[in-house]
Amino acid sequence: MVTHNLIKLSSSFAETIDKMKRETNNDNVLNLRRTKKMKDDNFLKANNAKHLWHPMGHPKDSLEAPPKIITQAEGVKITDIDGHQTVDAVGGLWCVNLGYSNNRIKEAISKQLYDLPYYSSFAGTTNPMAIEASYMVRNLFAEDGMSRVFFTSGGSDSVDTCLRLARQYHRIKGEPTRTKFISLKKGYHGTHFGGASVNGNNRFRINYEPYYLAVFIFLAHTPIEILLMKLTPRN
Ligand SMILES: Cc1ncc(COP(=O)(O)O)c(C=O)c1O
Repeated sequence: MVTHNLIKLSSSFAETIDKMKRETNNDNVLNLRRTKKMKDDNFLKANNAKHLWHPMGHPKDSLEAPPKIITQAEGVKITDIDGHQTVDAVGGLWCVNLGYSNNRIKEAISKQLYDLPYYSSFAGTTNPMAIEASYMVRNLFAEDGMSRVFFTSGGSDSVDTCLRLARQYHRIKGEPTRTKFISLKKGYHGTHFGGASVNGNNRFRINYEPYYLAVFIFLAHTPIEILLMKLTPRN
C-alpha cells in the first residue's frame, strides 16, 4: 500500500516537473519557482501543519499555533508569507553559515547536479567530490589530529554515527563492556534514537524513554559541576 502510494506520488511529481518544463520550454525548472508558485497563499495557510508533522511536538500544538511560513531568504534576511522581514540570527538552525541564496553556492550545487547528481560511497564505489571534500576537511583539521572524514546527512545522523563508532572503538581495543555514555545536562544531540537518548534536555528526551543506549549519567553543565558529579558515586 505504502509502495503503491509512493509510486503514485513519484509519478504525479514527475508529471508536474514535465509540465513545468513544457511551460518554461527550459530544463531549468528552478527558475520557475521564482515566478510561479504551485499553490496560492490561501492554500498554504489553510494546509499549514495539517499534513506535515513537525519534529519534537504534538501535531495539535502546531495546528493551534501554526508555524511561520517562510517564503523567501536572501543573505541574512528571511521573509514570511505575509511579507514580514526579519534577520535570521540562527542561520536556519545553524546550517546556513554563508547566508541564504549565496550565488557561489547556488552555482556550485547547480553545476554539480549536471556533472554528477549523486553517487554513493557506501560499498565499493566513491565519487570525485567526496574525495576532494574529504581532502579539504582533513587538511583544515590536520593539526587537531584528524586523519579521516566521515560524511553524514546531518547533525542527528552525525551524533548517532559517533555513538556507534565509539562503541566500535572500545570493542576493537578489547574493552567491549565500555558501553556507557555520559551526557551533559541541557545538552541537545538531535532527533535520531541515539541522539535523543543522550539529550540532556528533558523536553527532547523523556517522551522517547526508555533509553535506546545502555546507561547514562546526566551531569551538570559547568566544568566544576561536572567534576563534582564525577566524584560522586551514582547507581
Ligand atoms: C549539538 C547538536 N547535535 C545534533 C543536532 C541535530 O542536528 P540536525 O537537526 O541536523 O539533525 C543539533 C542541531 O541543532 C545540535 O546542535
